[in-house]
Amino acid sequence: MDHTIQGSLRLPGDKSIAHRALMIGAIAQGDTTIDHLPDGGDVETTIDVLVALGVTSERSGQHITVHGLGGFHWQTPANALAMNNSGTTTRLMLGLLACPPAPLLLTGDASLSQRPMARITDPLRLMGAQMATTEGHLPIRIHPVRTLHGADIQLTVASAQVKSGILFAGLQATGDTTVTGPVHTRDHTERLLQKAGADISRTGLTVHIKPLQAPLQPLQIDLASDFSTAAFWIVLATLLSDSQLQLPGLSLNPTRTTLLDILVRMNGDFQVVDFPQAAAAEPMGTLQVNSAKLTSTTVDAAESARAIDELPLLALAATQAAGRTVIHHIDELAVKESDRRAATESILRSCGATIDRQGDSWVVPGPVALHAPDQWPDLPADHRMAMLQIAAALVAGAPVPTTVPPVVAVSYPELTYDLTKLVTSR
Ligand code: S3P
Repeated sequence: MDHTIQGSLRLPGDKSIAHRALMIGAIAQGDTTIDHLPDGGDVETTIDVLVALGVTSERSGQHITVHGLGGFHWQTPANALAMNNSGTTTRLMLGLLACPPAPLLLTGDASLSQRPMARITDPLRLMGAQMATTEGHLPIRIHPVRTLHGADIQLTVASAQVKSGILFAGLQATGDTTVTGPVHTRDHTERLLQKAGADISRTGLTVHIKPLQAPLQPLQIDLASDFSTAAFWIVLATLLSDSQLQLPGLSLNPTRTTLLDILVRMNGDFQVVDFPQAAAAEPMGTLQVNSAKLTSTTVDAAESARAIDELPLLALAATQAAGRTVIHHIDELAVKESDRRAATESILRSCGATIDRQGDSWVVPGPVALHAPDQWPDLPADHRMAMLQIAAALVAGAPVPTTVPPVVAVSYPELTYDLTKLVTSR
């Protein structure tokens, strides 16, 4: 069965920006409003954690108003703070809560409790925080300290979550803080903090932040659609012949759109047909995607770090590209919500693709005609892996699914509906 994609889709709001806007709203003075707030477990976790810390809000559909505390005036929660499955909530909140009024305990679900946390607690300790991990993982206890002090932090991993946690701690420190990473990763925290009035700037790979002299200003944000969710459609519309797709209101923050840069190099066919909000804190516009015959490329470590959530879909695209695509720096995928490095390999191999792991890189020859297996491999409960499997099956010509694994709802509860709306079978 041959599929094609036609139509226009306003996708759910950006999760990364939503977490940060909620957190900045919580410490700002006054009411922050957020529109196009995405549904899904991770953002719910951030809201629930903030509620447990005494932040009040009103929500109506995709709109939320957060009543800011006007500073770091947390209420002591009655119970442990449940981070559930959300790595972003955990690493950012560790920075926000680095100087708490009373001892705090943070817990996570089984998958989150296996993910590395020393990468954030170690630099926060350098700033004076007292945090006890469970061998580098959750549960984590945070003890009150009199003050945090600014520091020059050198990141060993390219992580926007870690950078953001340190910036949140820097707001509460005495003295300036700098964070230098190996790559300029997604910069939503920097953009939103600047909009809220923080003294923050960037020189090359170093972000500088000064302690707050006055409470942050509240934000009014209409969230652009999540580029990482859009990646599913961008790759599918590229691979399925005769496709024409418009994605209005899409986040076009250049630190998030590296997948497009890579696909353009592979002969992908994209146009930004309007870019109405280039001046907004977070740029958004309409992306037009047409199908294309891809050619291979080499993806370097910095590109991989910026496109980390899109690499599994990029590997699928590589199976259809003429030549040998090499994707460097894939090891970080092994410590995401699941081992996405292994799961991507097993999904693509079960469809007949070749994907070789060579050190920290993938080598993917193409093009290969994919076929959907009778029996899919056992997959971890991970939204991005479930969506990769659905995309691979469609490229292989399998029928459009009428149900999707429940875990997809972590980022994209509307997927089943959108599949029936946009995919035509011939
Ligand atoms: C995120 C950063 C990335 C990404 C995650 C969301 C963020 O994680 O994989 O889905 O919102 O800052 P790392 O910072 O661990 O690379």
